[in-house]
Amino acid sequence: MSQLLSLSRAARLVGVSRTALQKKIKEGELPSFDGTVSPEELLRVYPQTQFEDDSEYDRITTIKERSFGKRVFERALPDKEVLAARIADLSKQVAEVDARIKRYDELLQKLSDKLGEAASQHGQEVKAALEDFRDWLSRQMDEELLEIGTPNPLVARDSVLRVMAAHVRIQPSGHEFFQEGHDTLLEAALRSGVALDYGCSNGNCGRCKARVVSGQVKKVRHHDFLISDTEKTQGYVLMCSNTAVSDVDIDAPVAGGVQDIPFQQIEAKVKSVEALGPDHMLVHLQTPRTHRMRFLAGQAATLEISKSIFSTLPIASCPCDDRNLHFHVRRQAGNVFSDYVYDKLKHGDTVKLEGPQGEFILAEKADRPLIFIAFDDGFAPLKSLIEHAMALETGNLIHLYWIASSLDDLYLPNIGRAWSDALDEFRFTPLVVGMALGSLHERQDERLHHVLQGVVNDHPDLLESDIYLAGPETVATLAERYFLAQGLPKTRLFVGVTG
Ligand code: FES
Repeated sequence: MSQLLSLSRAARLVGVSRTALQKKIKEGELPSFDGTVSPEELLRVYPQTQFEDDSEYDRITTIKERSFGKRVFERALPDKEVLAARIADLSKQVAEVDARIKRYDELLQKLSDKLGEAASQHGQEVKAALEDFRDWLSRQMDEELLEIGTPNPLVARDSVLRVMAAHVRIQPSGHEFFQEGHDTLLEAALRSGVALDYGCSNGNCGRCKARVVSGQVKKVRHHDFLISDTEKTQGYVLMCSNTAVSDVDIDAPVAGGVQDIPFQQIEAKVKSVEALGPDHMLVHLQTPRTHRMRFLAGQAATLEISKSIFSTLPIASCPCDDRNLHFHVRRQAGNVFSDYVYDKLKHGDTVKLEGPQGEFILAEKADRPLIFIAFDDGFAPLKSLIEHAMALETGNLIHLYWIASSLDDLYLPNIGRAWSDALDEFRFTPLVVGMALGSLHERQDERLHHVLQGVVNDHPDLLESDIYLAGPETVATLAERYFLAQGLPKTRLFVGVTG
């Protein structure tokens, strides 16, 4: 049997999600050995895999680029020294295997000769038996050689993947991701939705210090923070300054919840202010390279323009890009913050960011279908959660309902459509209800129930799903009550209140 593959590597080789592979293993279709699979079995289960191109991988990457922006998913070759080290490592492995095969070959030849000698020294009966055995051995050796003539194409593809990307496993959380391009370990982790502990991202604070348990890493960025000689011999490195050369296991803490994210104050700059329709504005803030905003998807931050002009808004982008933060600002006549954003805020202005705040985050460990229901600008925190879920590549079904008061409140419909066009497991249902959801009163709950009944009808397995609701308080509360009355446990219902 050839080298076993981790589930992440196997999933990437055949262009499916880890969840899809886990399902095959659970159903007994794909044998697994300690969480790994063999290339032979993988090819048996996925014989239709395309080996000539990376169409599936490209398709997913394209949609992520379109959704998150090129800023997150740049595909680049690894640093040339890293590339050289990976090729050297692979060549060493090939040389070792080659030497081992030669030794086995010699050993088998010696065994065959010994059998010949032994046969000549015994009587007819023993001689015949030994010659039979020698013939059998010779036939087996020929057959094995014939099999070597048709190598498993997955093994060849895996060798290429090993040069292009190293597989990183974080202990004890068990998170896994691939290290590609010029990324540091920290950047690769954040792109993959892994909330490692870090501070400055710049080699100064030491918060990203972690221990390499196995595998090889390489320093690619200078750092001022000092790691003692003893720590170095124990394998400690800074994740923001090192990249993985080979597959690595790293001992590093991962944020388990909002309590692990520190409160931060950052002077950010306005990168752009862009109208998303008549009543919504996209404010794109960029933090300094050396002082980025650490947050969990779904959280909010306070934007302070001056002591009297500020607002707390959900972050509408994902933590996979901690330098570029998006906010959706609704037009509210007479609101000083909204008025300032619509009339005066411009590229290059300074905005003080404080936070993050809020507990409306993804229950990552749950392996269930995800239903997201946005009411009007409740889309903002859900966008962050969905992008994060996509970065985690869970492969679970995601269904986004965007229920809007009017067509103008459905201010970014193309994102939902692009996601559903590109991902098999993504569905998007936009609905315009023609009533002001932001000022809904209790008497209108019947009309709302009618809309929510549509969600229930779409999902006969609703009670097996996690539902994330976000929007103005009244409508979010009414919807929460509705789903609880349907029998959904409170632990499967997550509510984010906006505005
Ligand atoms: S995050 Fe500060 S040293 Fe790495």
